[in-house]
Amino acid sequence: MKILYNKNDLNEALNDVSVLGFVPTMGGLHNGHLSLIKKAKLYKCKILVSIFVNSKQFSKKDDFKNYPRNLKNDIKKLKKLRVNYLYLPAYKDIYDFKPKNKIFIDNFSKQLCGKFRKGHFKGVLNVVNRFLEIIKPKFIYFGFKDFQQLTLINLHILKRKINTKVIKCKTIRDINGVACSTRNFNLNTKQLKIASKV
Ligand code: PAF
Repeated sequence: MKILYNKNDLNEALNDVSVLGFVPTMGGLHNGHLSLIKKAKLYKCKILVSIFVNSKQFSKKDDFKNYPRNLKNDIKKLKKLRVNYLYLPAYKDIYDFKPKNKIFIDNFSKQLCGKFRKGHFKGVLNVVNRFLEIIKPKFIYFGFKDFQQLTLINLHILKRKINTKVIKCKTIRDINGVACSTRNFNLNTKQLKIASKV
């Protein structure tokens, strides 16, 4: 697995790749992420995973600070799955240019999670729009677990006529029924038990 720390090295590495599948993540990889990668493998493409904890999509500073991170473990998991490329950009690499496409935020962003997480979807669309311009993947993979995110990204891609297809993937659950999520690493046993009843 080639690890790339900036877009210049990334572009050079991807120069002769014709079909690329992209799995964007914020790390803290769990079975949900791994199933996105396994799905990507069915598309007979080279696979690129990104790990970038995007501060712009967090409404609270503490939430960003406490977001679970475990890069060493993540790299082990990605190598085991024979992922081709891992993109680990710094903040500047993502935000030091003006994207060609303006982000399109459908009004659906104001409902559900959007009511409680100020600026969250704008932050998600901003970073995904930039990733799409840097990476230009043929496919991008998202789970139904984040249904509102998946829908808004798909609408942005369609509206801006971006040449990337969104592949929608099923939700993966732990045995207690809770949907796999990096944030679960911050829950104690009692909290997980409560979550399993939701
Ligand atoms: O779903 C996530 O982990 C993030 O929202 C994403 C799509 C990687 C953008 O930072």
